[in-house]
Amino acid sequence: MQCRRRHCFTRIVASLVALLVGLVIIRQLYRPTRQNGQVTSFHQELYKVLRQKDFAEPLSPTRSLANGSLVSVQPASRTLPRSNRSLAKEENAESVRKVEPYRYILNEPDKCKRNDTFLLLLIPVEPHNVNARSAIRQTWGNESLGKGIVRLFLMGVKNGMSEHSLRSESVQHRDMIQQEYIDSYYNLTIKTLMGMHWVSRFCPKAKYIMKADSDMFVNTEYLVEKLLKSNIPTKMYFTGYLMRGYKPNRNKNSKWYMSSELYPSESYPTFCSGTGYVFSADMAERIYNTSLSIRRLHLEDVYVGLCLAKLNIEPTLPPNEFLFNHWKVSYSSCKYSQLITSHEFRPSELIKYWQHLQMNKDNACKLAKG
Ligand SMILES: *[C@@H]1O[C@H](CO)[C@@H](O)[C@H](O)[C@H]1NC(C)=O
Ligand SMILES: *[C@@H]1O[C@H](CO)[C@@H](O)[C@H](O)[C@H]1NC(C)=O
Ligand SMILES: *[C@@H]1O[C@H](CO)[C@@H](O)[C@H](O)[C@H]1NC(C)=O
Ligand SMILES: *[C@@H]1O[C@H](CO)[C@@H](O)[C@H](O)[C@H]1NC(C)=O
Ligand SMILES: *[C@@H]1O[C@H](CO)[C@@H](O)[C@H](O)[C@H]1NC(C)=O
Ligand SMILES: *[C@@H]1O[C@H](CO)[C@@H](O)[C@H](O)[C@H]1NC(C)=O
Repeated sequence: MQCRRRHCFTRIVASLVALLVGLVIIRQLYRPTRQNGQVTSFHQELYKVLRQKDFAEPLSPTRSLANGSLVSVQPASRTLPRSNRSLAKEENAESVRKVEPYRYILNEPDKCKRNDTFLLLLIPVEPHNVNARSAIRQTWGNESLGKGIVRLFLMGVKNGMSEHSLRSESVQHRDMIQQEYIDSYYNLTIKTLMGMHWVSRFCPKAKYIMKADSDMFVNTEYLVEKLLKSNIPTKMYFTGYLMRGYKPNRNKNSKWYMSSELYPSESYPTFCSGTGYVFSADMAERIYNTSLSIRRLHLEDVYVGLCLAKLNIEPTLPPNEFLFNHWKVSYSSCKYSQLITSHEFRPSELIKYWQHLQMNKDNACKLAKG
């Protein structure tokens, strides 16, 4: 293309300026995060988040004394003279670790006494959701499904719940743990951590734990089969539907909203969908202990992922990628005989599908092909 000298010069200058501006913009966009002149990778940043001092928030710092063996320690710093503050702080950190959290209203301390628990099912459920509990008892939570299967429902307290009806349900089924925290969606993390703590205290000899939501379909027999057959480690093991490369949702209207004050980093470590995950029992105490130094986040599965990241334990892919589903898999007895979880079940639906699968599971896939 031809151009006159003057025009040409202007055009070249303009192009150069545009190029320069472009480069500056690109550099701004892609430049690594700099803090104090240091380049921080995602992991360094995450580590920073985990180490933040105010990120450590004990589960129940001022919990009053509970009864029986459940003794909590009162923080002492406020009553000590100024010169002893630093000492007090350390003592305090130590005592926080010893705090036995939230008093039990219902407990089953002997549930694992037989020492042969192979799979403990921890099921967070709302206290009033009797139908879900009933459906789970008749289906995937039935302890007769295999040797060493133990089922426990985890609950907090909810206003307007009749304690009497819960108590009689508990006496009848002996599968309910209730503790003195407010039962709400935003407290799901507390509920899960209380489950982890229960395992470390009352069921440390169990082999595997599954945490599954109360609206799940779980093929317990297939899970047990997989755990027995696939050379699954019995220590430091954590699996489920892996959520990789997720970023905090900064949209305030979202159910998964996460403020940048609570979680400053722009990505989450790999975590397992909270709908249903499985781990070796030793992980319960590790996760619980680690949680004492990580500020709680209400997104339970993300939070457990943070604990794993701090423990330097990467969730493992399940033996087969279609085993864990955090959506509703369209039903066929063939499909359901070869998966572990499927999501979004009403109690009546759960019973219906379960019964169909029980009647057809032996030749589920042959029928589908034939
Ligand atoms: C436990 O505490 C509750 C009230 O918080 C009380 O009613 C109950 O008697 C106490 N039980 C024991 C064994 O101290
Ligand atoms: C600090 O605490 C120790 C015991 O923990 C005590 O002996 C000492 O007198 C205290 N110092 C002050 C200034 O209160
Ligand atoms: C469970 O195991 C512990 C430690 O191995 C043992 O002391 C206890 O007697 C066992 N309990 C039963 C009921 O087998
Ligand atoms: C659990 O399964 C056993 C054996 O199949 C059955 O007899 C029992 O009724 C089931 N329990 C419930 C609560 O449905
Ligand atoms: C979670 O439970 C704690 C302890 O009962 C309570 O103080 C807090 O308000 C609850 N949070 C929500 C969001 O329900
Ligand atoms: C967890 O913390 C308790 C109390 O500090 C300690 O006794 C136990 O060994 C810790 N367990 C793990 C697995 O870190």
